[in-house]
Amino acid sequence: MPTSTAVTMCGIIGYIGSMNASRIVLEGLKHLEYRGYDSVGFAGVLNGSLIVKKDVGKVDDVHAKLNFLEHNLNLAIGHTRWATHGRVTKTNAHPHIDCRKDIAIVHNGIIENYEELKNELVSKGHVFRSRTDSEVVAHLIEEEANNAASFEEACFKAFSRLEGAYAILAIDRKDYKIVAIKKGSPLVIGLADHGSFAASDIPAFINYTKKVVYLYDYDMVVLKPDPVFYNIENGNLVKVERPIQSVEWDAEKARKGEFEHFMLKEIMEQVDTVQRAADQDKKILEKIANEIKRARGIFLVGCGSSYHACLTASYVFSKVAREHVNVVLASEFPNYEHFLTSKTLIIAVSQSGETYDVLEAIRAGKKRGSKIISVVNVMGSSLARESDEFLLMHAGPEICVLSTKTYTSQIALLNLLAYTLAGRYEEGRRRLKYLWNVIYYLTSANTRNKIRKLAEKLADKKHIFCIGRGLQYPTAMEAALKIKEASYIHAEAFAGGELKHGTIALIEEGTPCIVFVSEENGKEILSNATEVKSRGGYIIGISPTNHEVFDFWIKVPECGTENPIVQIIPVQILAYQLAVLRGCDPDKPRNLAKSVTVK
Ligand code: F6R
Repeated sequence: MPTSTAVTMCGIIGYIGSMNASRIVLEGLKHLEYRGYDSVGFAGVLNGSLIVKKDVGKVDDVHAKLNFLEHNLNLAIGHTRWATHGRVTKTNAHPHIDCRKDIAIVHNGIIENYEELKNELVSKGHVFRSRTDSEVVAHLIEEEANNAASFEEACFKAFSRLEGAYAILAIDRKDYKIVAIKKGSPLVIGLADHGSFAASDIPAFINYTKKVVYLYDYDMVVLKPDPVFYNIENGNLVKVERPIQSVEWDAEKARKGEFEHFMLKEIMEQVDTVQRAADQDKKILEKIANEIKRARGIFLVGCGSSYHACLTASYVFSKVAREHVNVVLASEFPNYEHFLTSKTLIIAVSQSGETYDVLEAIRAGKKRGSKIISVVNVMGSSLARESDEFLLMHAGPEICVLSTKTYTSQIALLNLLAYTLAGRYEEGRRRLKYLWNVIYYLTSANTRNKIRKLAEKLADKKHIFCIGRGLQYPTAMEAALKIKEASYIHAEAFAGGELKHGTIALIEEGTPCIVFVSEENGKEILSNATEVKSRGGYIIGISPTNHEVFDFWIKVPECGTENPIVQIIPVQILAYQLAVLRGCDPDKPRNLAKSVTVK
């Protein structure tokens, strides 16, 4: 089966048990909305009949219209969609049902051979309603049921014919069970005394249980109050044992609490999350440091913010450990595959551990025998599974679509690795522990109020530029990304030295330019800031000390190799406040989803 599959985002949840399944699925969908939010659907069984409710819109809106809580059910499944296959319409929303209205399915992923299957099923008389690849699964189960002794056997036969990537939940109105399968898309099982859950991510059911089972690819689970686990990889239905694990964070972490948005909550959490990232097992870090020393050719790969963390790390590895690492965008990594050997080490950085491009990058390495080390936040994620060794950020769930706390955790962890590599683990840890005070100050109400005033000045701007040199260059890149995603203001980052090679032409009267200043490169970047100012630019200095070139100064204490952790925080706050002032939802920016599992 191909591993190079493009996968849709989306969130799925199912519950079976003695509690109100309608309520549990509705709550779960709200927790999964970060994965996709263009349409929502729900299915359950009431007195032997299938109930399906679905429409375009966010969970609250669709629920307000259709009332998912109309019936108190003991079995239900739900889906929140981020469309890639078939437009955003009610018909294309999940669940999808078979011709007889016996079977309902929800699916996260993409069925690559759906056209072939659909043609076959249409020729046998099946009538399709939607333009999705997913609907084929419902009809295929219906077809297989003609020659199967049970619903699970029909599911097994149907799932065995699927190519692509999928996490699917299927129900039959005549059977009290949910059949789940996972291949390539995330799916985790939750176990409680009153019933069982299957969901794309743990926050969907963390209010009810911390006992989870991470599934392997091709695991098929028959969810009854007591689930039975099978694996179908080799074409047979083989019963398997899967360990039950305990989630280390609690339900509170997945709630907004007193905060208006997860983004702000997660920005504020950095006081603790950086500390937790620093609490790594020294022995594992040393083991990885030895792998780095042994390797011939090291690549750091990631996407988006994680890529910026990689770029930051490459400077720190060079500065602290005198180690050369290549930094490559995961989506561009296949272009380097000719350099990969069994001596190559790939360090993959990903919050979710499910990003398609990152998984493809490490798979390219694995084909050539390269060693894979990953830095992830999600235990049990595909990346953690497929790596030889992994380091956990311990940042707790990041619900806002934008990375904030996991970005700083990634840098903290990679910095600690660089210090360990240089034989200075204790110093690296001490440096991170010192940041507690600094981050406390940077996230305080005082600082936030000050940044709010800046946000008010910038809220109507069309462009914002960010500049930095050395370690401050990737910080400028991350700053621009945060502003764009949260507020939809165009923002762009440049290395200070590059300005004069073209970009300075864009500076006009009042163009805002955020300048990241450190002791190391203060003189040069301030000189770039002066060049911008003399063309009319409005200079925002993120700097340990004030300077006459600044029109607005945000004080960030000098932290050396840890500057990238602390200097980004004011811009995270700025991006958040710009979003709020401009009426954008910072937790769910348009067109984005949390785990980018598409090519
Ligand atoms: C930006 C952001 C994205 C992610 C990128 C990689 O705020 O969240 O750019 O950093 O999609 O995601 P992970 O780290 O899950 O691989």
